[in-house]
Amino acid sequence: MPQEVRGVIAKAKGEPVSVETIVIPDPGPGEAVVEIKACGVCHTDLHYREGGINDEFPFLLGHEAAGVVEAVGPDVTDVGPGDYVILNWRAVCGSCRSCLKGKPQICFNTHNATQKMTLTDGTELSPALGIGAFCDKTLVAAGQCTKVNPEARPEAAGLLGCGVMAGIGAAINTGGVGRGDSVAVFGCGGVGDAAIEGSRIAGASTIIAVDIDDAKLELAKQFGATHTINSSNTDPVEKIRELTGGNGVDVAIEAIGLPQTYEQAFYARDLAGTVVLVGVPNPEMKVELPFIEIFGRGGALKSSWYGDCLPSRDFPMLIDLYLQGRLNLDGFVSETIGIEGVEEAFHKMERGEVLRSVVVM
Ligand code: APR
Ligand code: ZN
Ligand code: ZN
Repeated sequence: MPQEVRGVIAKAKGEPVSVETIVIPDPGPGEAVVEIKACGVCHTDLHYREGGINDEFPFLLGHEAAGVVEAVGPDVTDVGPGDYVILNWRAVCGSCRSCLKGKPQICFNTHNATQKMTLTDGTELSPALGIGAFCDKTLVAAGQCTKVNPEARPEAAGLLGCGVMAGIGAAINTGGVGRGDSVAVFGCGGVGDAAIEGSRIAGASTIIAVDIDDAKLELAKQFGATHTINSSNTDPVEKIRELTGGNGVDVAIEAIGLPQTYEQAFYARDLAGTVVLVGVPNPEMKVELPFIEIFGRGGALKSSWYGDCLPSRDFPMLIDLYLQGRLNLDGFVSETIGIEGVEEAFHKMERGEVLRSVVVM
């Protein structure tokens, strides 16, 4: 029997979101219905609302979520009712060219539910990142459910489903940060702080946080920044060189998505170092760099999609570290709010007041 539940819907470009009744079909083959416990508010949800992703309104927003599987389709065996899961947007297919090369973390054909959730008048919904989790229950592909230790509180655990995983993964997966490395992170929002946290758990000995907001730099220290630079009054490239014996860092991570901070990251790394771009640029932006410097500095210029994470490998491991007190996920939860608080949370996010507002169902 299809169920009617509450969901946060973006109906049209730029319009405030609203809580509506939505219809969730029973799970078909390969699908699962998940009862959502908590879901973080991410910039991507706002980008959907602003029409910056595509025009397939109405959107069911929300995608950084943890919950409990309620029911699964007939052929589903990996997860079942009662399992505590974090939702992911990388349910790997196992058969695309990347999966076949043994790189499922960059699967090109990830799975989502095949059936549609709808409004009560039958209008089909587009779930944000194939998830849609500002709602009591959602329908996803079973592979989007990653089982983790149920002792982890959902407000914190759900954040691993997107932004926090992107940042941690930018450091440990894409950047390959290791013991004793020096790292600089440009932008200390949720994603940048997660890159700082990831660098810390990977054993980096110097972690330099760069931002234009002193309050954000203060927070960055709580995640493991050993040095901070306010780049609105200090040249970050010069200062980073000074802090690293004149050399620059092994890994420079850009977590904003701006050409000027990408260039700072480019010049702030050591010879043969790595630049990781995890901030998302807009389509109009351009970067201009001296071509000889790209060759002459060597190393690698990499982009990090979702922290190059493999949910089945990374989520349970990071939740275990969290439960052992070795990973600070709680620090990302700036506030918990109700389902009707998403619009206000967007404004707090725009004003830079929060790392993450988390909707608790
Ligand atoms: N120089 C340094 N820091 C800056 C600058 C700048 N020119 N402009 C903004 N910042 C800082 C802000 O002060 C803020 O602390 O960058 C941080 C950005 O954080 P958030 O807006 O909270 O964004 P976050 O959720 O961390 O996401 C960052 O990663 O995944 C992407 O789409 C996401 O592009 C976004 C980026
Ligand atoms: Zn694949
Ligand atoms: Zn997100």
